[in-house]
Amino acid sequence: MCGIIGITSNKSVSSAIINSLRKLEYRGYDSSGLATLSEGIIYEVKSEGRVDNLEKNLATKNMLGSVGIGHVRWATHGIPNTVNAHPHSSENVSIVHNGIIENSTILKKYLISKGHIFKSQTDTEVIVHLITEYLKENNLKDSIVKMLKQLHGSFALGIIFKDKPDLIVGARRGSPLAVGYGPNENYLGSDSYALKSMTNKISYLDDGEFCVLKKDQVDFFDENGKKVNKKVLELSSNEENYEKGEFKHFMAKEIEEQPTTLKNCIKEYIDNINNDINIFNIPWDLKEISSITLIGCGTAYHSCLMAKYWFEELTKLDVTIDIASEFRYRKNRFKKESLYIFISQSGETADTYAALDLCNKNKMKTCSVVNVIESSIARDSKFVLPIHCGPEIGVASTKAFLGQMMVLYIFTLKLAFLKKDLKKEIYIQKIKDLKNLPQLVEKTLLIESQIQTISSTFTDAKGSMFLGRGFSYPIALEGALKLKELAYVHAEGYPAGEMKHGPLALIEDGIPVVVLAPRDNYYQKTISNMQEVIARGAKVLLITNKSKDEVVSENIWQTIEVENANDDLLPFLLTIPLQKLAYYSALKKGYDIDKPRNLAKSVTVE
Ligand code: M6R
Repeated sequence: MCGIIGITSNKSVSSAIINSLRKLEYRGYDSSGLATLSEGIIYEVKSEGRVDNLEKNLATKNMLGSVGIGHVRWATHGIPNTVNAHPHSSENVSIVHNGIIENSTILKKYLISKGHIFKSQTDTEVIVHLITEYLKENNLKDSIVKMLKQLHGSFALGIIFKDKPDLIVGARRGSPLAVGYGPNENYLGSDSYALKSMTNKISYLDDGEFCVLKKDQVDFFDENGKKVNKKVLELSSNEENYEKGEFKHFMAKEIEEQPTTLKNCIKEYIDNINNDINIFNIPWDLKEISSITLIGCGTAYHSCLMAKYWFEELTKLDVTIDIASEFRYRKNRFKKESLYIFISQSGETADTYAALDLCNKNKMKTCSVVNVIESSIARDSKFVLPIHCGPEIGVASTKAFLGQMMVLYIFTLKLAFLKKDLKKEIYIQKIKDLKNLPQLVEKTLLIESQIQTISSTFTDAKGSMFLGRGFSYPIALEGALKLKELAYVHAEGYPAGEMKHGPLALIEDGIPVVVLAPRDNYYQKTISNMQEVIARGAKVLLITNKSKDEVVSENIWQTIEVENANDDLLPFLLTIPLQKLAYYSALKKGYDIDKPRNLAKSVTVE
């Protein structure tokens, strides 16, 4: 959460900082600010709300300076207002911060006793005063080392100093930070996306490191201040992936892109000629793996749940799934023969990263399924399975969900085949079916006007339920999450068979209930559960797959039919109407679809 940018150059930097902040806005958007340095004066401007407000505010000021830092905030300590917006400054330094300082209360007490006066409610301000205090008696490098040793928690920092004309310090623990290299200027950024329009040459700070940027030089140091060397990576640049194009929202674009992103993924993993799966250089003998633990958060957790159903259906492996924020604090019994798979679109989710780190420290086999391949989770896991979706900018995850499911399904098939749980002819048939999936997704995407009409019922409802069994249950959870986060409608995802154990009490006249009942093994059972909610007044939207047989049930309010596919692949198709339902419900309410309230794309705090 929160986005950081820093630029040291030989020309004015404020408008370039604003441009980068726009790109970082997906990380936090409750307030923003920037500080520049010119001839020993730190200029500062901050605004509540979006970067647009900051830009308007900036237009009224004369922000000189060829060195500057900028920030978009997702509030942790202190309400989102101008006082709490970053940068935070003392007479000597100005700081932007992403993360949480866990010992800020203790540090604040100490600093107040030293005469420092605090202006904001943030934890960040302790960093400002701490570094100011150390600079009284130490040189810059020693002050940074001393200051970093005092901080507990996770952070990425960008700091400018009143008496250092062209210099920015960056530091990282837990939260990601990248350095970009340009002609006569250098950059600091929370991610490569913020830097891409300025450079394609970047380096990443490792945990505990800090860097000193000047316009023509960058030095990296470990936590003790010892110089370290860094690799410079070259980013592939495909700028149009970062634009909305003809679409009103990134989410709409990302939903429509799904046939293409699935095709890209298939191209990377499937040997078209032999109908085989290409997963090379795995550092372990997969045949020796006897259990799997899948870990993620939010939508990525739903992919874990989906994969559990596939692994159990197609292999004899013992499969456990976990929410990262729970896993990291439980008493874990690590299993040597287990493979720990971490799912994350951003690859920067703090809880997922912490769970990975824990497994690495316990010498487990770790693998990640990520979209951002330069991310911390990708870099620190022993094996990476990228989902090849391209940048996902909308806060609500759509194409990444299908991409995660696709890679997990491919991996399940490969493992099932290698472990001889799946016969060759079935393996080949399933790969052939998979190759056909992008086309089926494309056709399913054509469902449009019906969903637009249906969505009004959901926007007006005080609550809703999403039900499914078996393979459809994780998709019910995902559909409910999408509606909650985008349309701010209470939505509960539930296993259809569990309703009678409590939640049925919620069903009353007119409550919209989505029932996912594709014609798979669970079909009849789910239809019976559907009858139970209809009998109690629910307005049922049934989502099933096309079939010659009509659904034998009366009183269904609406039916949507997705394309037909083998049972394993139906979850991909069932997801599409649910994504659109959430999209149109939010659109009807006039909400900010790509940036829902209180959320951020990359959750880099606990
Ligand atoms: O980047 P990650 O996949 O690790 O993010 C995990 C969740 O924060 C994310 O899926 C979140 O639930 C989405 N906003 C859901 O649409």
